[in-house]
Amino acid sequence: MPITVDDVGPVIPVVVIDEASRAGDVALALADGGIYFAEVTLRTDAGLGAIAAIADLNIPGFTVGAGTVLSRDDLERSLAAGAQFIVSPGFDDDLVSRALDAGVAVLPGVATATEVQRAIAAGVDTVKFFPADRLGGLPTIAALAAPFRHTRFVPSGGVTAENALEYLGHAAVPAVSGSWMVTREMISGGDFAGITRVSQEFTSRLGTRP
Ligand code: 3PG
Repeated sequence: MPITVDDVGPVIPVVVIDEASRAGDVALALADGGIYFAEVTLRTDAGLGAIAAIADLNIPGFTVGAGTVLSRDDLERSLAAGAQFIVSPGFDDDLVSRALDAGVAVLPGVATATEVQRAIAAGVDTVKFFPADRLGGLPTIAALAAPFRHTRFVPSGGVTAENALEYLGHAAVPAVSGSWMVTREMISGGDFAGITRVSQEFTSRLGTRP
């Protein structure tokens, strides 16, 4: 059964990885911390290999997706590697329609009201709001959510352990995305225990979600 965007969250770790051989340990560390998703970005050469490595591990309940998907080729390669959801930083009608045709969950990025309208026209009701902090954060999401009352926004960019719950407290925010629990440095330094600890710290606070 393919996952839908509704299944993703409430926190989506953004994984920027330089060595695919570390991907399995990253996913296991996240799962140990109670986070069962990873958006592995294609912004490094190791991205596709990392997606495949995580998919091949078949960690029960764990979902791996591809981020920074910028083209049809990226989309096809991500799906072939085993990605179960697709994230892009901006809005691309062609990419979105290809993903929807393929029956794969897609979370395209928007930054303006015009792009939200394009998303609605394309049949997408959940968008990534990127780069959230630079665009004004939660007050901007609240302003967009007023006219676009059926659209849901997943902030990404500058989301932290400190502000994530505030975002999640808004009815139009079903999930947040960020790299704070799995930084590039933690991965390259082999600090998998740190990934689990920071993930656990956050997931334990989700119960107190406003
Ligand atoms: C990104 O594109 O890197 C994501 O939006 C994550 O941003 P962050 O590193 O600020 O959490």
